Amino acid sequence: MSEKRIYNFAAGPSTLPLEVLEQAKEELINYGGSGMSVMEMSHRSKLFLSIFEQTKSDLRRILNVPETHEILFLQGGATLQFAMTAMNLITATGKADYVLTGSFATKAYDEAKKYGDVAVAASSKDRNHSYIPAQSELNVRDDISYLYYTANNTIFGTEWKYVPQVNAPLVCDMSSDILTQPIDFEKYSVVFAGAQKNMSPAGLTVVFINKDYAGHALPYTPVMLDYAAMIKGDSMHNTPPCYNIYILGLVLEWIESLGGLEAIAQRNAKKAAVIYDAIDSSRLFRALAEPEARSRMNVTFRSESDEMDKAFIAFAGENGLQNVKGYRTVGGMRASIYNAMPYEGVEKLVAFMKDFAANNPKA
Ligand SMILES: Cc1ncc(COP(=O)(O)O)c(C=O)c1O
Repeated sequence: MSEKRIYNFAAGPSTLPLEVLEQAKEELINYGGSGMSVMEMSHRSKLFLSIFEQTKSDLRRILNVPETHEILFLQGGATLQFAMTAMNLITATGKADYVLTGSFATKAYDEAKKYGDVAVAASSKDRNHSYIPAQSELNVRDDISYLYYTANNTIFGTEWKYVPQVNAPLVCDMSSDILTQPIDFEKYSVVFAGAQKNMSPAGLTVVFINKDYAGHALPYTPVMLDYAAMIKGDSMHNTPPCYNIYILGLVLEWIESLGGLEAIAQRNAKKAAVIYDAIDSSRLFRALAEPEARSRMNVTFRSESDEMDKAFIAFAGENGLQNVKGYRTVGGMRASIYNAMPYEGVEKLVAFMKDFAANNPKA
């Protein structure tokens, strides 16, 4: 690892591949002999358009996105998609159902309620969002415009291990697990993701939309929130987040250099297994998510007491393992191990957990 770099376990914005940062640094002030930075280029220039097209086609190839779906590079974060999905899709029947598996799903539900008859298909709140409801527990109405869920719950550290089977279009927030494993896009009308975990710096939101679901927005929908307008302008109705799109392009090259999505998925499974094994075999730590629902991306765990958690977080920080503090409403620890977290970072965390437990008289 490069000198002075830490292992950054932050949930987002999060660590980016060092190779990507180094290439961006190399090209920062003079991209491809153009004499300027990508930051300084017109989004309509030939040079930027070639970056844009390359990134879009690489993303389509790596994720195997079918031609039925358009790829959009938008702004406003995943949070703006909470409104945008509802405003564009709810018009079919005026109704939508939501599965509440954490904070972001609940926020999306609260937002959607403004635009129609929105109901809860299932919730995991009864056990502090430590699990994912089973297919048989989903109470989905017959005539909904869509079913909404959050594939990976960044704060609670749970992840859906199945795609809900319903007789309605699916809308899915994949902010914290996009590009971590293959996705069957045929099953989704809309998938969206804020970029700042597995794709690029904050400021870019990627949307995959089945084109059949565009063009039905509520009449008062602002143009920037209308999928049809975004598709028509090919994400350039206004200035897109150019630099973030360029970084996404570098991240995609990095994914391919590692062997593509299948290889990334294996790497992620291995990293997660190493940490969960260390937690399960420790007398000091326990995982917060129920075993069948454990996230491969955000590992939430705690020790015997708040004081010990604090000590662990502080000592980890001093040892170059930073941002392992859990979200404020959950407490304990959270190690976010997105694509760009190297295996060595996970090994170092596990070794540190073992040392900490061994040096703790109570353990
Ligand atoms: C699953 C999920 N959805 C939505 C959001 C909100 O994203 P943004 O800050 O891009 O609006 C986050 C942010 O961490 C997230 O993890």
